[in-house]
Amino acid sequence: MSEAYVLHVNGEEYAVADAWLGESLLYVLRERLGFPGAKAGCEQGECGSCSVLVDGVLVCACLVLAASAVDAEIVTVEGLQPAERGAMSDVQRAFVETGAVQCGFCTPGLIMAVHALLDQDPEPSDLVVREAISGNLCRCTGYGRILEAVEVAARRRSGGPDGAGAGGARGPGR
Ligand code: FES
Ligand code: FES
Repeated sequence: MSEAYVLHVNGEEYAVADAWLGESLLYVLRERLGFPGAKAGCEQGECGSCSVLVDGVLVCACLVLAASAVDAEIVTVEGLQPAERGAMSDVQRAFVETGAVQCGFCTPGLIMAVHALLDQDPEPSDLVVREAISGNLCRCTGYGRILEAVEVAARRRSGGPDGAGAGGARGPGR
């Protein structure tokens, strides 16, 4: 039996019609609503590539039933961008500047995880950063530049010196 419901995504309401109630939030975001930012990797809660925020909590969209999120505020990577068209969030900019993006498949999920972290803890310790991104698998970067990107974004948020690589650059592949 098909159902219809409304989701709140990135500040807008979206009607979902003729839906099976077993559809994941990841499927509905990507295939029904046109938000391809969350990536379909393992679809088993293992890789973090599908990470989105539901009521401010980082979740794997592949593990959430879309119909269970009808009353929630959902934020995808598309919703992090400033109103200015084509602009990047501070975390996205730090990833680009530090070379933390290679194939890019893991990047939207990591960006969401880092936003969730820095919104809660603007000056996280290295251990806290590592724990926060431990659910996001990257096959390409070796994580060193990702950690550097988080460091740069955190430093800027706390009013520290600007610029990627300033004070704590890690070598490639670490
Ligand atoms: Fe959801 Fe991998 S696709 S955790
Ligand atoms: Fe390719 Fe992370 S940049 S998987």
